[in-house]
Amino acid sequence: MPSPQPEFIAPGIARFNPQPEPSLALERHWPSLGPLPASFRTIPAFSHEDGRHVARVALPPGTSLYGTGEVPGPLLRNSRRIVTWNSDRWCYGDTDVSLYQSHPWVLAVLPGGRAVGILADTARRLTIALDETIEIAANPGDPSFTVCIVERDHPAAVVTALADLTGRMPLPPLWALGYQQCRWSYETEERVKVVADQFRARHIPCDVIWMDIDYMDGYRCFTFSPQHFPDPRGLSDYLHRRNFRGVWMIDPGLKEDPEYRVYAAGRDGGHFVLDEAGREYHGRVWPGSCAFPDFTRAETRRWWAGLYTEFLEAGIDGVWNDMNEPSVEDNHQKQVPETLHHRADPELGGPGPHSKYHNVYGMLMARATRDGIAAARPRRRPFVLTRANFLGGQRYAATWTGDNRSTWEHLAWSIPMVLNLGLSGQPFSGPDIGGFAGDATPALFARWMGIGSLLPFARGHSIKDSAPHEPWSFGPDCERACRLALERRYRLLPYLYTLFHEASTTGMPIARPLFFADPADPVLRSADDSFLLGQNLLVRARVAEEGSCRAPYPPGLWKPVEIVGDSTTTTAHPDLPDLCIRAGAIIPLGPIRRHVGESPDGPLTLMVCPDARGNAAGTLYEDPGDGPPDAPAHRLTTFTASPGPDGRPAISAIHTGDYTPPRGHVGVVIV
Ligand code: GLC
Repeated sequence: MPSPQPEFIAPGIARFNPQPEPSLALERHWPSLGPLPASFRTIPAFSHEDGRHVARVALPPGTSLYGTGEVPGPLLRNSRRIVTWNSDRWCYGDTDVSLYQSHPWVLAVLPGGRAVGILADTARRLTIALDETIEIAANPGDPSFTVCIVERDHPAAVVTALADLTGRMPLPPLWALGYQQCRWSYETEERVKVVADQFRARHIPCDVIWMDIDYMDGYRCFTFSPQHFPDPRGLSDYLHRRNFRGVWMIDPGLKEDPEYRVYAAGRDGGHFVLDEAGREYHGRVWPGSCAFPDFTRAETRRWWAGLYTEFLEAGIDGVWNDMNEPSVEDNHQKQVPETLHHRADPELGGPGPHSKYHNVYGMLMARATRDGIAAARPRRRPFVLTRANFLGGQRYAATWTGDNRSTWEHLAWSIPMVLNLGLSGQPFSGPDIGGFAGDATPALFARWMGIGSLLPFARGHSIKDSAPHEPWSFGPDCERACRLALERRYRLLPYLYTLFHEASTTGMPIARPLFFADPADPVLRSADDSFLLGQNLLVRARVAEEGSCRAPYPPGLWKPVEIVGDSTTTTAHPDLPDLCIRAGAIIPLGPIRRHVGESPDGPLTLMVCPDARGNAAGTLYEDPGDGPPDAPAHRLTTFTASPGPDGRPAISAIHTGDYTPPRGHVGVVIV
């Protein structure tokens, strides 16, 4: 196919602006990645009639548009408009144009299945109109920017090209793939213990309990409430003895209180963002008036990172960075003034207004947090969850889709939101299972657990004053659905971990849209209620209260399978999504476990689905599940099946790597 290059640059642009702002994002926020690969083309943004810089990329009719990161609503983004401006949008709706993170990136799938990636190389506010001609416009008065365009044969190759440019998610510890239970808040140590004990007593798989803001002393970050969390180390020990990990929240706003040592140290060290008059800026968050670290300074990031050394001594396993758009209560938009002053280091672009750094504030916070955990615990893999982030931020933290609602609509968006994040470079995301705000019904909760347990980040979370949202809170039938859903996830862990490893090495999404199976087929391009886990497992969900999955099947033969419960072909509970394996695939399964550390030498089962010729193949990545990144003992196994002399598939395995898993039996199930 001839290169369609000339079509991409639309005519009718008033004046070429020869001085784009030096690649703010590419060079400054993705510094380790070197120059733009030769296969990327760039176009500058042009000065438009009304003084705004605008870039236009014209695409052929029939092009399907995706990406733009964390956006509410359906998978297909044609005719949408987004504004890259990190915003706290509690209970967001379909018309919200900005959420918590910004990804100035569009994935365009052309009519024939080739794909184009369009990256606007600026962290400043942009309005992106996703029409046949994609229009990317800066704010009036903002400088010009460069647009990078990459074209490949397949959308997957465009997504991996994005990862080449902006980096990949580091492989998380295995426990972060387990189920995670959160609430705003489990208000006392005792309550946390009771919740953890319930999971074990009820045999519901779970690896992580989360501590929301109420563990703190008056919402002061890096402190513990003397009344409600007097012994955090004791609580961590309690959780660890029962094979749970604890993730604890840290917000950026530090209470303006001279008696509070973290605030006082930040003030004395000159670490806070200033207002336009050069005074320490204060905005209201949970603890009242707060100061905000200026994460655009390496010195401040080092100070912030250092705070984790003592904090982690309480046995804390992972950190949750929230409210880091940053969000304040001072106005309806929850925004700090754009005129605030950052004393940014030269390599980030030098001192400048908040408008220049707003969209990277959360990412820089997550970066400093990750650095702090890595320095405090060099022998373990850090785990950070962040609410705000920016294109490339997958290098520092996983994410969730923010404050959703307990409604069927928000359940339905869980899938396309995670898919579009994956298509925008962030493979590790998931929704608040059950919905954050409001009360779920048993049916909604069970369905949400069924879907959420198959998405990369699986955490249940709910707002203060909502009805209890633990898996057992909705009666025995819902509890059974949740148990089965999570047993599925734990059986799939060998397969999921292999996909996480692939994401960490290539940037391939873990949860993938159906059109990855055949980008040329237009009917696959708008499937919202079905997705692929890797290439071999198809998930077909029911996201509306009534009705069935509407998505078409991808090409090839897909066989329905069940991996928990009594039957291997009938879905174990009507509220769980249907699973199908691709003919020609081998999927590695583990045993049902209550946590990832249980029975490490438990049996591995190869679920083999031969194709019409009797052949099948699959891979398995294994390592100790944690450990320093520089000593990656691991093993990669390629399994192949071909027709044996007795007509049954004969299976062989080829290993690479230096790791021997503590495993007993390997079983085979032919489906
Ligand atoms: C924000 C977060 C939510 C959290 C709450 C209290 O709304 O998005 O997840 O529970 O703050 O910390």
